Amino acid sequence: MNKVTMKDIANLAGVSKATVSMVLNNKNISVSESTRNKILKIAEELNYIPNGVARSLSTKKSQTIGIILPDIINPFFSEIARAIEDTANKLDYNVIFCNTDSNSKKEEKYIKLLISKLVDGVIFITGGGENKSLEILKSNNVPFVLVDRDIDNKEKYCGVYCLNEEGVKEAVEYLLKKKKKKIVFVTGKKELRISKQRVKGYKSIMVKNNIYDEKLIFEGDFTIEGGMKVTEEIIQANKDVEAIFYSNDIMAFGGIKVLIRKGYRIPEDISIIGFDNINISNFIEPELTTVAQPIYDMGKQSCEALIEIIDGKPSNKQIYFKPKLMIRGTA
Ligand code: RIB
Repeated sequence: MNKVTMKDIANLAGVSKATVSMVLNNKNISVSESTRNKILKIAEELNYIPNGVARSLSTKKSQTIGIILPDIINPFFSEIARAIEDTANKLDYNVIFCNTDSNSKKEEKYIKLLISKLVDGVIFITGGGENKSLEILKSNNVPFVLVDRDIDNKEKYCGVYCLNEEGVKEAVEYLLKKKKKKIVFVTGKKELRISKQRVKGYKSIMVKNNIYDEKLIFEGDFTIEGGMKVTEEIIQANKDVEAIFYSNDIMAFGGIKVLIRKGYRIPEDISIIGFDNINISNFIEPELTTVAQPIYDMGKQSCEALIEIIDGKPSNKQIYFKPKLMIRGTA
C-alpha cells in the first residue's frame, strides 16, 4: 500500500494531476468551483498528505525548526522547549525535538539529521564540550540561535541568556541576611560556562564577606540523583552546614529528600535554594526557594529571533534576562 498521491485524486476527479496540484496549492487556475470542491473533497476523503520533502525541495523551506537540548526529562528543558514550540506554531512553524544527553557525538548526529531534513533553522542548547555541531551548522549556512547556555565567542552569534552570576549573588546575599554563613554551593557540570558564571557569583559574595572556602563548592550534574549523591557528600564533610545552594531545582529536590530522610528540618536546620524555578518547584512541600529564570520568555524570544533570521534579517544580538529570587518555604 502506498501513500495517497495527487495522481489518485486526479483519476477519481477526472482531471489532470496538474489541475489537482494547482488546486491543492491554492494557485490561480481557471477551474470551476464545482471541480475545485470535488478535488478538495476527494483529497479529504482519501486523507491526502502533501509530500513535505518535495515541497521543501521546491520552495527551499520546510517551515520546520530543530531544537537541540541536553536532557528532555529535566523540566527546565521541557518547559523551554514548550515555549519554543508554542511560539513556532503561532508563526506557522513545526518543531523537531532532539535530546542529546549532553553527548557531543549525539549532538553532531542530530545536527546532521536536522540539516538532512531541510530544517529552516536550529535552536541550540549545548550540552558542553566542543562545538563541532556549530561548525557544521555554519558551514551549511543553517540559521541558529543559542539559548540558555552561551559558548566562547558568543558575541558572534544570536543568543538568549539569563544573567546567571547576578541571580546567584542575590540569593547568597539573601542567605547571609538570614544569618546563614556556612553556605555550600553545588555547581552544574564544571566545564559548562553557566556553571562557571554561577560559581563566580557565589564566590564574589563569599569573598566580599570574608567567608569564602573553596571546600564548600561541590560539583553536581543537574540531575535529581546527582543532587542526592552530592548532598550525602556535603553532610559527610560538613556537619555544621547551614545552607545548600543548588545550581538547579531538581538537584535541590534530590538534596531535600536526603536531608529530610536524615532528620534535618528545612529551613530551620539547613536552608535550601535552587535555580530555574521550574513549574513543580512551587508545588513540592516545603515549596522551593529558588532563583527564577524566565524560562518561557527565554524560549519565546529565542524562537522569534531565529525566525527573524530565517526571514532574512541576520542577527548576532544577545538578549539577557534578569533572574528573580522567589522566596518560598526552603530558605
Ligand atoms: O536545570 C538545567 C540547568 O541547565 C538550568 O539551570 C539551565 O540553565 C540549564 O543550562
